[in-house]
Amino acid sequence: MRAVVHDSYGPPEVLRVEDVEKPTPNDDEVLVRVHATTVNRSDVGWLRASPFFARFFTGLRRPKHRTLGMELAGEVDAVGAGVTEFAVGDEVFGVKSFGAHAEFVSMRESAALAHKPSGTTFEEAAAVCDGATIALACLLRAGPLEGRRILVYGASGSIGTAAVQLAKHFGAEVTAVCGTPNLELVRSLGADSVIDYLEQDFTRNGETYVAVFDAVGKHSFRRCRRSIEPGGIFISTDLGFMWHVPPLALATRVLPGKRVTLPIPRYTKENVLLIKDLMESGRYRAVIDRRFPLEDVVEAARYVETGQKVGNVVLTLNGGRDF
Ligand SMILES: NC(=O)c1ccc[n+]([C@@H]2O[C@H](COP(=O)([O-])OP(=O)(O)OC[C@H]3O[C@@H](n4cnc5c(N)ncnc54)[C@H](OP(=O)(O)O)[C@@H]3O)[C@@H](O)[C@H]2O)c1
Repeated sequence: MRAVVHDSYGPPEVLRVEDVEKPTPNDDEVLVRVHATTVNRSDVGWLRASPFFARFFTGLRRPKHRTLGMELAGEVDAVGAGVTEFAVGDEVFGVKSFGAHAEFVSMRESAALAHKPSGTTFEEAAAVCDGATIALACLLRAGPLEGRRILVYGASGSIGTAAVQLAKHFGAEVTAVCGTPNLELVRSLGADSVIDYLEQDFTRNGETYVAVFDAVGKHSFRRCRRSIEPGGIFISTDLGFMWHVPPLALATRVLPGKRVTLPIPRYTKENVLLIKDLMESGRYRAVIDRRFPLEDVVEAARYVETGQKVGNVVLTLNGGRDF
């Protein structure tokens, strides 16, 4: 089968498409023929082994996982003897740590895999699980959101677009902060109010929120603490300048007052099923910026590395088959 591989850490140019052995599913596994996958910020982080300690997970000298790629949508091509939930021909979507930039992917039946939401394309289904899982892990740290005010900073990214939609699902009043070109998009995702960070500094308008969620890792607790209500929380998706966020998160856990958190997401079937349900009921949609054929993975990764994508970047396989 065709897969994107890399044998050294580095820039997108170390990626190439190669013929590799097709996986054989174990008894508890499902073999998926991938129609669409994505390139996300984690993929390009693993690719450069950035930050450096990523190498403890992915191989100290060279990558243990030759094929990157987390999100996928496609059709079940084969199932192991013990599989009961899926059958050959089923349309599925899901997320795993590595390996989705390939024509075929093997996943355990119990992993973060579910039937594709009805009424969605493979491209749409491929572009939802990662951002939504991270946003969900972050939002759950804010406590009950029903009727409470939350601010999402960087609302136009993969995590940001998910956070706006999920916070609305949890009943929050959402203020979304993004650049001028994305104001309409973010409003269309359900934000109650939007702030253009190029025009206005939200930390100086006197408004306060139960949570400020920095979905793009560009803000800091120090700069926005006055915008957080007493007992409220600053949620980060990034280690921050000089990796100050983890120690701050530990310190504010034991000290009274406002807290800081950097949640680690868990990719579960439960979360994928929640996303499926929200998509089928029209309460969640995929935001796709650009689409590339698998062969153009280098260009796709270069674009993701700019940090300017809006929502998600999709790779299509098998001629981009879609319904
Ligand atoms: N915790 C985790 O497990 C985990 C996993 C993956 C990634 N991450 C981190 O999460 C962060 C977001 O990832 P993502 O994939 O959602 O990002 P992304 O999709 O690459 O975010 C890009 C968006 O961010 C906006 N943006 C860029 N600079 C901004 C700024 N200074 N202020 C406001 N918006 C800005 C851009 O819009 P404009 O054109 O308006 O600038 C663009 O739409 C990254 O820091 C990434 O490293 C964390």
